[in-house]
Amino acid sequence: MKQRILFVCLGNICRSPAAEEIFRVAVARRGMQATITTDSAGTYGGHAGERSDARMRRAAAARGYELTHLARRIREEDFERFDRIIVMDEYNYEDVHRLAPSRELANKIFRMREFFPEGTRYTYVPDPYYEGHEGFELVLDLLEGSCERLLEDLISTKEQ
Ligand code: 4NP
Repeated sequence: MKQRILFVCLGNICRSPAAEEIFRVAVARRGMQATITTDSAGTYGGHAGERSDARMRRAAAARGYELTHLARRIREEDFERFDRIIVMDEYNYEDVHRLAPSRELANKIFRMREFFPEGTRYTYVPDPYYEGHEGFELVLDLLEGSCERLLEDLISTKEQ
């Protein structure tokens, strides 16, 4: 069975496109790209159509990830099209929850922090937009750790 994963942040130019690409690379590394697909979106549409933030593209490229996503806003139909919708922080959670067409479909919403490795000091993926370079590095660190655990979770859920 195919599993479709949507990552969501505010602008869809920093955190979620990076999550999408890091996750895609992790999936490809295990040769699972035919069964697990991924996309990203933002709760705010102000950057729709834009490439990812140049600071995030640069920081990601230094780790071997090429961000090619064009920003888009999350839509109601995404709740039907995707199996899991994974948000970066509590603001995203509330905004996405508000958009959910039904309580049942709202069960598809997860927080990225659920997949943080044990001992992580953070409880969400902090918005790097107004931060310096370290903010982007922190986001990439958190995403690399959690994408791996998310993938393991998907694999074990599928096996049950
Ligand atoms: P993102 O970061 O949600 O990780 O894509 C942001 C991008 C844009 C804005 C805020 C956060 N903004 O205010 O335009």
